[in-house]
Amino acid sequence: MLDLPNIRLELAECYDLTPTAEKAEATAGLYARAARVISPAEWMMAAPYVLAINKLKRERNAVILAHNYMTPDIYHGIADVVGDSLQLAVKATEVEAEVIVQCGVHFMAETSKILNPSRRVLIPDVEAGCSLASSITAAGVAEMRAKYPGAPVVSYVNTTAEVKAASDICCTSANALQIVEAMEGDTVIMTPDRYLAQNVAAQSSKRVVWWDGACMVHELYSAEDVRAYRADQPEVAVIAHPECPPEVVAEADFTGSTSGIIDWLHKHKPRQALLMTECSMASNIADELPDVDFARPCNLCPHMKRITLEKVLWSLHNMTTEVMVDPAIAEPARAAVQRMIDVTQRTRA
Ligand code: 13P
Ligand code: SF4
Repeated sequence: MLDLPNIRLELAECYDLTPTAEKAEATAGLYARAARVISPAEWMMAAPYVLAINKLKRERNAVILAHNYMTPDIYHGIADVVGDSLQLAVKATEVEAEVIVQCGVHFMAETSKILNPSRRVLIPDVEAGCSLASSITAAGVAEMRAKYPGAPVVSYVNTTAEVKAASDICCTSANALQIVEAMEGDTVIMTPDRYLAQNVAAQSSKRVVWWDGACMVHELYSAEDVRAYRADQPEVAVIAHPECPPEVVAEADFTGSTSGIIDWLHKHKPRQALLMTECSMASNIADELPDVDFARPCNLCPHMKRITLEKVLWSLHNMTTEVMVDPAIAEPARAAVQRMIDVTQRTRA
């Protein structure tokens, strides 16, 4: 566990972290993108960290890859690349900087390391996990293979490197249906998200069988929640992430990955939108969609929220925690992720 009191002392000795109007002014361009969701007083506190991190990033030759669920100070203040899991994985293959700081959860950092092993990949809090990734091990994959002999295993990227290595191919929420459809045979095993699998099964020509995992954030949504919002705001556009239960997806106007959701909102520009996903998403895109009024059922991912400006500064200061993957695992895991990227690019071309 990170020793935050001591980390704070050391950071205060090495960086000027006193909030001042000058520091807020020096970052005004970045703040402009987050002004709808961060108060001036909050930004005054964030600005010294934003300045220190952006300077240190240059000194360390580092880039920050940040998931769409990061808090707006990270998303707008320090990220070089933002995106969904698929976009971040593809971007990780292209990074030329020496260091990648992954602002996201552990499986994302592992994926970056697997795809770009010569880079140093840092995660600001190594305990940023994922309820899906911790729901299955390679033994679980073997159990599914024994139960459904010959069926290919499609594992969500929200898995450990060990599980990826034991799988035939990976998928993300952006390409799950595409990947399942590209598999040979009638039956496809999907791990570890039962809801993603059920949502894919509803649209697929294949027989999809699944592992019994769930996302602790999205499984909390229900069709009743949607109906309650609709009763209050009949015109609200309901947008769900495919990790939501099928009853929620059935009520939604659109279902897609976090970036798919952003694209849909840009295209349709509803007056009111209800995002059935992690809470920070709406905050991050509020500025680029000023005419959309977001209802925010605020389910936070406790793992994503472990990543803070303070921990990112510590991570770059101390070059910690470096994510390592045993090459014997990394090689087959990379093959499973690369197959996913190849199938996605081939079937979209
Ligand atoms: P996306 O790939 O849609 O960004 O989802 C990742 C995730 O962890 C959602 O809970
Ligand atoms: Fe995992 Fe759910 Fe958090 Fe995404 S939101 S990292 S799937 S627990």
